[in-house]
Amino acid sequence: MTALPGNYQNEIYFAGLAGIVPDLPITFTDLERRAEQAMPASLWSYVAGGAGDERTQRANVAAFDGWGLIPRMLRGATERDLSVEMFGQTWPAPVFLAPVGVIGLCSQDGHGDIATAQAAARVGVPMVASTLSVDPLEHVAAHLGDTPALFQLYTPTDRSLAESLVHRAEAAGFTGIVVTLDTWITGWRPRDLLSSNFPQLRGHALANYISDPVFRAIAGVDLDGDPRAAVLPWVGVFGNSLTWDDLVWLRSITTLPLILKGISHPDDARRALDYGIDGIYCSNHGGRQANGGLPALDMLPEIVGAVDDRAPVLFDSGVRSGADVVKALALGADAVGIGRPYVYGMALGGVDGVVHVVRSILAEADLIMAVNGYPTPASLDRDALRAVHTAR
Ligand SMILES: Cc1cc2nc3c(=O)[nH]c(=O)nc-3n(C[C@H](O)[C@H](O)[C@H](O)COP(=O)(O)O)c2cc1C
Repeated sequence: MTALPGNYQNEIYFAGLAGIVPDLPITFTDLERRAEQAMPASLWSYVAGGAGDERTQRANVAAFDGWGLIPRMLRGATERDLSVEMFGQTWPAPVFLAPVGVIGLCSQDGHGDIATAQAAARVGVPMVASTLSVDPLEHVAAHLGDTPALFQLYTPTDRSLAESLVHRAEAAGFTGIVVTLDTWITGWRPRDLLSSNFPQLRGHALANYISDPVFRAIAGVDLDGDPRAAVLPWVGVFGNSLTWDDLVWLRSITTLPLILKGISHPDDARRALDYGIDGIYCSNHGGRQANGGLPALDMLPEIVGAVDDRAPVLFDSGVRSGADVVKALALGADAVGIGRPYVYGMALGGVDGVVHVVRSILAEADLIMAVNGYPTPASLDRDALRAVHTAR
C-alpha cells in the first residue's frame, strides 16, 4: 500500500463520474444492517451476539463517544506516514484483522479464513488467524502474499498438541503467536443458547485439529470423513485455563514473538513482561465472554501506562470506524484490531467486502489525521483528545 489510504475516497468519487456508486455500505450502521439480512440467522447470532444482556459489548462501542479529537492547525499534514514497526516488521498502518473463529463460515464459499488472508494480502493489513478455522493454517498462510500475519492460539490442555500447533504456525510463516487467555471456557451467550447453536460443537472450524498429527493420535477415531467425529476429542482438549507458570513453558517452545490477548489489568500487563512476553493485547473479546465489565477502551490507558513503552500494546473491542482507530491510537495503542466490521464485509462481499471495509476504515483514519494535523501514529498522544462533556 504505497498510496495514502485516504485516496480511497477519490477512487469512489471518480468511479461516480462513470456512473458507478459503491454497492457495499460505507457506514457501520448500514454494514451491520445489511449483513444481518445476508447471513443465516444462527450465524448472525453467533457473530453479532455477546455475553449476558450484551451491556459490555455495547459499552465497548459507546466508550469511543466519550472522547473527542482535537484538531491542530498550521501543521501541513500533507505528507502522512501511517506505517508502524511491529515485532521487527513494518506494517503499513497501525491496524490489523482480529482473530475471528468462524470467519470461515461467513463467506459465501465457506472458506472465509482463506478469503481473509487474500484480503490481507491485497491491502497489506496483517490478519491474526484463529485456531478455530475452516481451513488448516498452512492453507490460510499460502494466501497471505508478502503481508505478515500472526497465529492466534487457543492453548489446548495437551502440551504436545499446543507445541504442534505453534510449530506448524512457525513453519507456515506466521510471524507471531497471539495467545488468547479469556476464552478457555465459553461465556454465557443468550443468543446462542436460545438457538442452541455453538458452531464448533457441530464440527465447524476444527480444521487445525483434524489436520494435526498429535490431535489425530489423541482422538484415536477416523477423522477423514464427517468432521463431527472430531467434536468430542476436541471438547476434551480445548479449554486450558493457563496460569503464570504456563508462560514459562510457552516461552520455551517458540522464538516467535508471544502476545497475550485479553489483558485488562495493569498488574497482569507488567507481570507478563517479566515472563518475556513480547506484546500486550488489551481486549475484552468484544464483550462476548464476560458481561458486566468495563468497556475495553477504558482499560487501555492503564495498560499503556503499565507497559510504559517496553512492548507494543495491541487493542480491540468496539472499533467501528476510522475515528475509533485514531482515538485508540491517541489513548496509547500501538495497533488497533478490527473485529465484527470485517466479518460483516465478508458476509456481504467476500474478499472484496473485507478489502472495502478495511480500506474505508483506513481512509477515514487517514483523512481525520490529515484534517486534524497528525501526520503519523506517533504524533497522536493524549493531548490529541479531550473527554466529551456535551450531554448526548
Ligand atoms: C464471531 C467472532 C469470533 C471470534 N473468534 C475469536 C477467536 O477465535 N479467537 C480470539 O482470540 N478472538 C476471537 N474473537 C474476538 C475478536 O478477536 C475481537 O476481540 C473482538 O471481535 C473485538 O470486538 P468487536 O468485534 O466488537 O470490535 C471473535 C469475535 C467474534 C465476533
